[in-house]
Amino acid sequence: MTSSDALLTLFDRHVLSVYSPRRIVLAHGQGARVTDTEGREYVDFGAGIAVNSLGHAHPALVAALTGQAARLWHTSNVFLSAPPLRLAAALVEASGFASRAFLCNSGAEANEAAIKLARRWATAQGRPPERRVVLTFHGSFHGRTLAAVTATAQPKYHEGFEPLPPGFRYAAFNDPAAAEAAMAAGDVCAVLVEPVQGEGGVTPAHPAFLHRLRSLCDEHGALLVFDEIQCGMGRTGHLFAWQGYGVVPDVVTLAKALGGGFPIGAMLVGTKAADALQVGAHGTTFGGNPLAAAVANAALAELSSPALLANVHRQEAALRDGLLALDAEFGLFDEIRGRGLMIGAQLGAAHAGAAARVLDHCVAHGLLLLQAGPDVLRFVPALNIGDADVAEGLRRLRMAFVDYLEGASPPR
Ligand SMILES: Cc1ncc(COP(=O)(O)O)c(C=O)c1O
Repeated sequence: MTSSDALLTLFDRHVLSVYSPRRIVLAHGQGARVTDTEGREYVDFGAGIAVNSLGHAHPALVAALTGQAARLWHTSNVFLSAPPLRLAAALVEASGFASRAFLCNSGAEANEAAIKLARRWATAQGRPPERRVVLTFHGSFHGRTLAAVTATAQPKYHEGFEPLPPGFRYAAFNDPAAAEAAMAAGDVCAVLVEPVQGEGGVTPAHPAFLHRLRSLCDEHGALLVFDEIQCGMGRTGHLFAWQGYGVVPDVVTLAKALGGGFPIGAMLVGTKAADALQVGAHGTTFGGNPLAAAVANAALAELSSPALLANVHRQEAALRDGLLALDAEFGLFDEIRGRGLMIGAQLGAAHAGAAARVLDHCVAHGLLLLQAGPDVLRFVPALNIGDADVAEGLRRLRMAFVDYLEGASPPR
């Protein structure tokens, strides 16, 4: 039995079976490369689901984490420390619209905070509970806590968890008329939307759709909340995805890349709703913990750098060109879409449901890749990935396609 077999047995026996990971155990990483416990090396095009945006073991993040680890780990929010205060200030300043930040531990928590903020904001305006509806969109993903999963307009995530919290409504994504109809009654207090849907298939919002949501929110007195948990923090080639659309939200939620791999989330709030939650109305023990905030401060400095954002555009072009070339050779895709280094390759009808099998072949050839649903290959590599790693990842992807098309059975 190899060391990874022994570890996989621990998974099989002892971990709650909500995950179905690939049968490898990762041991260490450097940049866009990761090595497993058997010594096999992989090009990482998944970055821990768009989290390791500066790659693995980035020296600035390691220095921030180890430096803070020797000083102060945790204070709770009953006492202050410098890293979260600096992080709140830096995020507010970088956003250009927000006046306050709330720090938490994950994406779902950031969205929970936004939903609670919107409800309190509406309550303060004298709106009764039935007029505090949150509107979200088909194909969205907002997290797994009960409110965030209810906001997630995909029935597969709801099944068996009923009764779900009331006060959510769903409309078609990228359909301004559907949003108009869903808001016509004037009972919507917030519109929660991903500028680029991630889990739902890597689908960018049309600019006209986001602009219409902005004007609808203004007409109906609702907050426009952008969930940038996956598409934010530089992923689209702008620090915030909305900057590429020219639509300014009232609230934005962040997590994933914010900590470069250390768990942290944030909600940024503009002046309109900055006072909606008062002392005692919301909180978290760990949120904005000095360790997490120290790493996030270092990550934010790197992720805002013009050179890094320029690299996103450069590698987006390289990845798209490579995928187009593979498509010309193999004819696999219906569409290649996305923004920046958040790219989805939609498999054609002949390969419907094959994303998981392609990913198995990728692992066998030393490439970590993600899917977004059964039919979409999702590319979300580190934003500082270099030319050589993109080229090598594409070379390995090609070998995976050859095996897939030959009908080889993928190792599992
Ligand atoms: C857009 C979006 N929102 C929210 C979440 C939930 O984040 P977390 O898993 O950190 O709770 C995710 C996670 O994939 C996401 O992609």
